[in-house]
Amino acid sequence: MTLMTWDSTWSVNVKEIDAQHQKLIGIVNELHEAMKAGKARDVLGGVLAQLADYTVYHFRAEEKLLQLHGYPEYGAHEKEHETFTKAVLDLKARNDRGGLILTINVMAFLKDWLTGHILKTDKNYSPFLNGKGVV
Ligand SMILES: [Fe+2]
Ligand SMILES: [Fe+2]
Repeated sequence: MTLMTWDSTWSVNVKEIDAQHQKLIGIVNELHEAMKAGKARDVLGGVLAQLADYTVYHFRAEEKLLQLHGYPEYGAHEKEHETFTKAVLDLKARNDRGGLILTINVMAFLKDWLTGHILKTDKNYSPFLNGKGVV
């Protein structure tokens, strides 16, 4: 079973960001599949690196957009991004050192964090950005 599925209820009403969220979810699903297939640590490390890189890319793109339009809750939003980025980089580092066993609990953490962030924190900026003409 696929770990995460993006559907229209996940939309933040900004096309570019929706596309990035779909890609992010795709990488988490890829990691889940690799875990279930019992892939080797270096393969998992490759997917974790992709996840870390794309997470940073997406957060920067989102932050740039929020900053550009003067989003009032920018600070709190950016802090959430920072926390998750650190967690993903830590997973990658632990995997590289051989100390991480990728389990369903780790996958649940990634899934729950992203779900909560996108459906609450991200969706909160939709009316603001849409009001600035960003769609
Ligand atoms: Fe965000
Ligand atoms: Fe986001």
